[in-house]
Amino acid sequence: MPDTDDAAASEDTNAAIWKSDIGVNFWRSRKDDRARRDAERRVLMAQLLPFAGDEPFTFVDLGAGTGAAARTILDHYSAAHAILADFSPQMMAQGETELEPYAGRYSYVEFDLTAAGDWPAGIPARVDAVISSLSVHHLNDERKQSLFAEIHAQLAPGGWYLNYDPVKPPDPVVEEAWLRAGDRRDPEAHHRRHHMNDEEKFRHANHVRYMIPLEPQVGFLRAAGFEGVDVFWKELDFVIYGGRRPLLSATASGGSGGVVPPVAGSA
Ligand SMILES: C[S@@+](CC[C@H](N)C(=O)[O-])C[C@H]1O[C@@H](n2cnc3c(N)ncnc32)[C@H](O)[C@@H]1O
Repeated sequence: MPDTDDAAASEDTNAAIWKSDIGVNFWRSRKDDRARRDAERRVLMAQLLPFAGDEPFTFVDLGAGTGAAARTILDHYSAAHAILADFSPQMMAQGETELEPYAGRYSYVEFDLTAAGDWPAGIPARVDAVISSLSVHHLNDERKQSLFAEIHAQLAPGGWYLNYDPVKPPDPVVEEAWLRAGDRRDPEAHHRRHHMNDEEKFRHANHVRYMIPLEPQVGFLRAAGFEGVDVFWKELDFVIYGGRRPLLSATASGGSGGVVPPVAGSA
């Protein structure tokens, strides 16, 4: 494991963590309480999607990891098909095990989200929804913006994008309030924050490196062309925000806009 100071300066700690046993072991060992709260929040993401329970549709889960968010959507929609995109062989291997009951309803695609441009061939040119859970905060601001534009382009008209992620406090007063409430809920949190071992410091530096406040991210979504943009849920430093690609899209020549037919199964 690199020295903590070097880690803070390095751009590559994200790959060093997630493309290694550090990431997958940490993910498997997370406290039940955190995992339970994440699970509740992913249910809301599923509830926000506009599909009927038995409607066929295809969605992409960006930074899908072991597939916790994708599985939640598959549980809510009996005819949904998931494409799980991630860059970590370790997380994907663990996911293949956890996704066994969903065989035939999903595929994994290797995708490094830091790479702007064309999406991997395993992702269809048009998808009905895109979700991400606890992964976008690993991308720098420039890439968050270009990724949101790529998601918009990949979505069928009317298709939704939802992101569950941690955000940075916008100022020290807010940070103090978040910590106060968090420490009252979890009496061990303060001690944990101040007694990290080297691996925890390494992971923490990576975790917060590109984390930014909520407001600019909502602005990035609007700038990418999404409508219906909202923060659908927020509690302290965790949020679910998203929006949909409009049914009416501007023409390539910049004209007044035309109706783009939705693909089959899209909202
Ligand atoms: C905290 S885990 C969340 C996994 C899953 N979305 C969930 O909610 O359970 C973060 C995931 O993002 C993936 N990830 C981080 N950076 C990535 C990148 N540049 N490209 C693709 N995946 C990335 C990691 O491999 C890991 O699986």
